[in-house]
Amino acid sequence: MLRLECLFCRKKFPLDVFNPFCPLCREPMVVAYPPRTRTMALERELSLEKYRDFLPLASVNKKISLGEGNTPLVPLYRVMKNHNLPLVLAKNETMNPTHSFKDRGTAVAVQKAVSLGVKKIGTVSTGNMAASTAAYGARAELKTIIFFKKGSSLEKILSTGIHGAALFQVKGDYGELFRKSFEIGRKEGIYFMNSVDPMRIEGYKVTAYEIFIGLERRPPRFVFVPVSSAGHLVGLIRGFQDLKDEGFIHQMPFFVGIQAKGCSPLSRAFSEGRNRFRRVFKTQTIAHAISNPDPPAGNLALKLIREAGGLLMDVTDREILAAQRELAELEGILADPASATTLAALVKLSRDRKLLRGEVVLVVTGSGLKAMEALKKHNIYPKLLKL
Ligand SMILES: Cc1ncc(COP(=O)(O)O)c(C=O)c1O
Ligand SMILES: [Zn+2]
Repeated sequence: MLRLECLFCRKKFPLDVFNPFCPLCREPMVVAYPPRTRTMALERELSLEKYRDFLPLASVNKKISLGEGNTPLVPLYRVMKNHNLPLVLAKNETMNPTHSFKDRGTAVAVQKAVSLGVKKIGTVSTGNMAASTAAYGARAELKTIIFFKKGSSLEKILSTGIHGAALFQVKGDYGELFRKSFEIGRKEGIYFMNSVDPMRIEGYKVTAYEIFIGLERRPPRFVFVPVSSAGHLVGLIRGFQDLKDEGFIHQMPFFVGIQAKGCSPLSRAFSEGRNRFRRVFKTQTIAHAISNPDPPAGNLALKLIREAGGLLMDVTDREILAAQRELAELEGILADPASATTLAALVKLSRDRKLLRGEVVLVVTGSGLKAMEALKKHNIYPKLLKL
């Protein structure tokens, strides 16, 4: 029987996909595994099969996979030259089935939903998680309900709706909507696989394993990742922690979690030395995918990043757009603004050479094609050619 654990009070509870928060601390819980030896099955094709021993799945239902994971780890030669940096690689998560890292988490959560006989799933999202959940819901023949934040981009709404999900645009406070969704889920039997769902977080661990294998069984020195709800960062830290627990690596990477300056409750708490964040009330950034004023795994991320080693920082919209342009122009990678924060932060930190000795992995979390508003800022126009 799978159990969930609260990393604050260390209490364990039986898995209940409708109740992923600790009833005592109100913090998100993570999957607790009984002690066992885990091995990788690298000869298998699907990423979930390769690392199934590390995941909360008794088996992998191939029919509901969309081929998530197994994304390229590409050296950024021209970026390195441009900034005189040691080895910098991008883990290109835009290559996932719906063009973001969210597919890794959705894949595990939907596998779990089907194995438990759940018939309805849902999510609360600004975009990428919505499209991902809708696509996997379609594949697995589940009724899918999506709560969008009002103001989500048309690209994201349309690329979600095409999968046949029921879409709702909800006005009002995003944090409140997040909490409400669980109430509705319990009442209506909808498994809301939101940003900090324990199954989703387990899916994100696979990125850490793939980076380790891609670097010929070594951990990188640094991992840069954009942070919003913080589910992804928590998953990456847990993934490398698994590798350490199994004796595959001896040192954890140094994690750099990045927020946009216009919505940075976690980087603010980190730089002020607080272990609890304060929600923000006004957000202003082009990086909509990471604009969460009240991140549900915020306190957990602050705790884990301090324990594992790392920092949380922020970058401005101007730095984000410059990095987005650089990734596209020099490396051929069309990253969305949230992902571009990773290069923006690296450029900022690279002024302090000492900090950046060793390989750097930038996790490019999502595609720029789903964020047209940012692309428009680059003022790109074709020249008229008269024939
Ligand atoms: C492209 C992209 N990057 C990063 C994030 C942040 O991930 P998390 O909410 O798990 O911190 C999101 C979340 O929606 C996203 O869409
Ligand atoms: Zn607790």
